[in-house]
Amino acid sequence: MEPRLLLPEEFPLLRDFLYLAIHVPDGQTAPPRDVVDIDPLLARYWKGFGRKEGDVAVCSELDGRIVGVAWTRILGGKHPGYGHIDDKTPEIAIAVLPEYRGLGIGEELLTVLLYQSWCEDKDQVSLSVDKDNPARHLYERLGFTIVEERGADLLMVKTLAAEDGSYIGPGWEGLAVPRRPDAGT
Ligand SMILES: CC(C)(COP(=O)(O)OP(=O)(O)OC[C@H]1O[C@@H](n2cnc3c(N)ncnc32)[C@H](O)[C@@H]1OP(=O)(O)O)[C@@H](O)C(=O)NCCC(=O)NCCS
Repeated sequence: MEPRLLLPEEFPLLRDFLYLAIHVPDGQTAPPRDVVDIDPLLARYWKGFGRKEGDVAVCSELDGRIVGVAWTRILGGKHPGYGHIDDKTPEIAIAVLPEYRGLGIGEELLTVLLYQSWCEDKDQVSLSVDKDNPARHLYERLGFTIVEERGADLLMVKTLAAEDGSYIGPGWEGLAVPRRPDAGT
């Protein structure tokens, strides 16, 4: 199962995966499904996806079913995203269907998304994760570092480009690969 880019006709799935990405602490009730439509900030993570610079989504498909999606968006302005750092840094959202978690799909998706983001000239990506969410260990393993605590959340950043522009990321550590390898061909 190789992660691939999510196709434009599949972008509506981001709504469902955003709902799955909402961390519900033990003992708490999950919000209603339409929270991702009603909450204006959550809606910004999926509505109109594909139209803005920084919109990149990758997915994993198994037996004809998309089982995990990771994507980036730049959510600046008056009501910035939870993991917003600046208007150049895309923020990551990710979810895997519950029955497929813990199998390595999330790590694979993030690895591809990080590299794809670097190919699209991004120097870093960010995300926000609840302190109690086990997903933070996955992010730390992939080289994300905590840059700020925001209440119950951690703001994490992964640097993608070294000073000379070469890629620094999982699976590619130490390799001096030119940006946009296909540029100029
Ligand atoms: C976080 C998530 C995308 C990781 O995908 P995955 O395919 O389960 O992850 P992998 O199998 O590649 O890696 C396992 C790591 O994911 C995390 N993980 C595993 N099961 C998890 C679960 N049920 N919920 C959250 N994180 C989990 C752990 O950090 C684990 O690493 P560890 O064993 O070293 O602690 C997925 O578990 C998920 O969709 N969780 C719920 C939504 C969510 O929390 N999204 C992130 C919001 S910031």
